Amino acid sequence: MYGLEGRKAIVTGAAYGIGRAIAERLVAEGCDVGIFDKDAETGRQTAEALSKSGRKVVSVSGDISVKEDVEKGINALMAELGPIDILVNNAGICPIGKLLEMPERDWHAVFGVNVNGMFYVTRLVVPGMIERRRGAVVNLASWMGKSGVANYGAYCATKFAVVAMTQALAGEVGEYGIRVNAVAPGLIVQTRMRDESERDRRAKGLPLAEDRAKTIPLRRPGYPADIARTVAFLVSDEADYITGETVSVTGGLWND
Ligand SMILES: NC(=O)c1ccc[n+]([C@@H]2O[C@H](COP(=O)([O-])OP(=O)(O)OC[C@H]3O[C@@H](n4cnc5c(N)ncnc54)[C@H](O)[C@@H]3O)[C@@H](O)[C@H]2O)c1
Repeated sequence: MYGLEGRKAIVTGAAYGIGRAIAERLVAEGCDVGIFDKDAETGRQTAEALSKSGRKVVSVSGDISVKEDVEKGINALMAELGPIDILVNNAGICPIGKLLEMPERDWHAVFGVNVNGMFYVTRLVVPGMIERRRGAVVNLASWMGKSGVANYGAYCATKFAVVAMTQALAGEVGEYGIRVNAVAPGLIVQTRMRDESERDRRAKGLPLAEDRAKTIPLRRPGYPADIARTVAFLVSDEADYITGETVSVTGGLWND
C-alpha cells in the first residue's frame, strides 16, 4: 500500500477494465473517487460496488470527447468531492485499421476520446492543483505510444500524443509541486477494449492475445491490477521525484 488515505481522485473511464481496477485500488488505498464514464449504468454500478468499502465513490456520465459533457461532469465531481489531489486520465478507445483504409470517422473518434478528452479534463482539474500547490496526474498511454504498430496507426498516434502531453505538462506544472506521469500498458486482458480488439483481430485473421502472450518475456498477459498498482505508486509520495515519465508495464513486451 502507498498511503493515499484521505486523498480525492478522479478517474475517467472507470466503469470497466483498467479504469475500474485503478478506482478500486485507489479506494483500497483510502481515497474518495469520482468516476467519469460514457456508460452511465455501469459507472453507477461500479461506484455502488466500490462505495461498500466505506469511501465515497460517485459517478457521472458523459462523452469525454464532448467538451460540454466534460465541463458538466467534471465540475459536478469536483463539487461533490472537494479539492482533487489525483487525476487519472484513463478513458480510451482503440479502433483497429490500416492508416490507408481506416474510415476518417474512426480517426477523428480516437483523437476525440484519447487526446481531446484528456485535454479537456486536464484543463479543468489541474488549475485547482496549481492553486493548492499539490497534486498528481497519471495518463494512460500504451506501449503503442512508444512504437508505431501496423494496423494501429491512429491509436498509436493518439498515444504518442499522450506521452508528449505528459512530458509537456510535467514541465509546465513541476514548479507548483505537481507531478505528471504516464503508464504504458502492454497486452492487458480482462478489459472491454481487449474483448473488442480480439473480435476485430479474429475477423482480420490477426494473432490473438493468448498466442501473443507466449512471446512476452514474462510469458503472460497483463491484468488491470498490474496497471492499477503502478498508478497507485506513481501518484503516491513514494514517487515524489518522478515526473514526465512514461512507465512501461508490459511484462517485457516493450521496455523503453
Ligand atoms: N487493454 C489493453 O491492452 C490496453 C493496452 C494499452 C493501453 N490501454 C489503455 O488503457 C485505458 C483503459 O483501457 P481498457 O483496456 O481498460 O478499456 P475498456 O474499454 O475496458 O475501458 C475503457 C473505459 O472508458 C470508457 N469510455 C470509452 N469511451 C468513452 C468516452 N467517449 N467518454 C467517456 N468514457 C469513455 C468506457 O465506457 C470504459 O469504461 C485506455 O486509455 C487504453 O488505451 C489499454
